Amino acid sequence: MSETKFDFGLVGLGVMGNNFILNVADSGFSAIGLDNDQNKADALNAEDGSSGNVSATTDKLEFVRALKSPRVIMMLVPSGPIVDSVIDDLLPFLDKGDLLIDGGNSFFMDTEKRITRLKNSGVEFFGMGISGGAKGARLGPSMMAGGSKAVYERMRPILEAVAAKVDGEPCVARVGDMSAGHYVKMVHNGIEYGLMQLIAETYDLAKYGLGYSNDEIADLFSEFNAGRLNSYLIEITASIFKKKDDLANGDLVDMISDKAKQKGTGKWISQNAMDIGIPIPAIDASVSMRSLSSFKADREKATYLYPKSQLNPSRFTREELEASLYFSFIVSFAQGMRQLLEASEKYHYGLDLAEIAKIWRGGCIIRAELLEKIRVAFADDANISHLLFDEEVVKVVSELLPSINNVVAVAHNSGIQVSGLSASLNYFNAFRSPKLPLNLIQAQRDYFGGHTYERLDREGVFHTEWED
Ligand code: 6PG
Repeated sequence: MSETKFDFGLVGLGVMGNNFILNVADSGFSAIGLDNDQNKADALNAEDGSSGNVSATTDKLEFVRALKSPRVIMMLVPSGPIVDSVIDDLLPFLDKGDLLIDGGNSFFMDTEKRITRLKNSGVEFFGMGISGGAKGARLGPSMMAGGSKAVYERMRPILEAVAAKVDGEPCVARVGDMSAGHYVKMVHNGIEYGLMQLIAETYDLAKYGLGYSNDEIADLFSEFNAGRLNSYLIEITASIFKKKDDLANGDLVDMISDKAKQKGTGKWISQNAMDIGIPIPAIDASVSMRSLSSFKADREKATYLYPKSQLNPSRFTREELEASLYFSFIVSFAQGMRQLLEASEKYHYGLDLAEIAKIWRGGCIIRAELLEKIRVAFADDANISHLLFDEEVVKVVSELLPSINNVVAVAHNSGIQVSGLSASLNYFNAFRSPKLPLNLIQAQRDYFGGHTYERLDREGVFHTEWED
């Protein structure tokens, strides 16, 4: 290896890491990669990065010594214990002021622990969510960093150079303190789960409710993508329906098992939402549906026990389908943003929701035209407590409501599962109800457990002897 001192170090030369380091090199920074696997290091060394200023090694000492001081090192390794073992491996060789960034999908509480652990070492630790998959890593991801402002300034030039750009603005920001970066990425993934479930339900409705073929469904999503639903997930959905199968006759989508897997980030957001008392039922539904999908044998058995009646197609229009999907997209984003607002207070992150919407407009999996509206809503009124209170959103949602009412009603009557769509609608209906029937729950709690209740007409806490 030459005596060049590198600007940036990257640990973990998997698909994401390999693409990210090439992006760094293409953006005009010299970068060195570290991986235990000699083949991965060799592959990167053989790769002809257009700038030529990229290198790789399996030797951690050589890696650390090859970096300019103070060092900027990013880890892109699977979340969990591997992150800790990489920290253990590197820490003895690092100096005060060096910066270690965890760019993986780490659980935010683990990031908190790591920040605390490294506090006295003099090494700065940043948790940063990166979204966009392999292509994003190579061509421009969206990045959500958490940590101190001063330290962020040191990595900002590299991050802004490699990030996706929208209207010339880089899709990266220091979103807040401590574990804020990984928290925001977790919420990103929850919204991602929500949108994916909603799109899947729309596919089912187009297939069984409108009787569309895969080609027609591809056209439907292309048409949606050309309008207000314009987004990465709708775009890739349209192209999925056009893909022919290489291994058998027909369309590939029809040959893919309907058991959806998950790595856990969606589960984390639902768990945390429960912990901090924020309702996100549309996102919860998407996590539950992935779990339910894995019970294939049970589903097949239940089909015989509870056969569905023949569908009577075309009781909703494609325009209503588009409107109900757009309604539910808004609700999923609204739930995610509401959770961010609560977390910002609870964990003292100091999140700027307009800034987060801004960096989600490009590079990431949930990028969507809608995010510009969301950015404007939070930029216009930094104190707005819920996206559904934004004047523009009120107008749009009110217009969409009759469509989702009809689509969900038809789906329910036809036995088509629409967990995400109906969770969105139910959330909305509960959210706009000044009076919920939960006074009864309070009465029941007091009845069986003496848990007391509050009254509408006077202050205080009351208990009733319910049985004569
Ligand atoms: C992203 C994605 C990325 C990954 C998910 C998949 O933003 O680039 O969210 O992080 O694709 O972790 O998650 P599941 O395996 O849980 O679907």
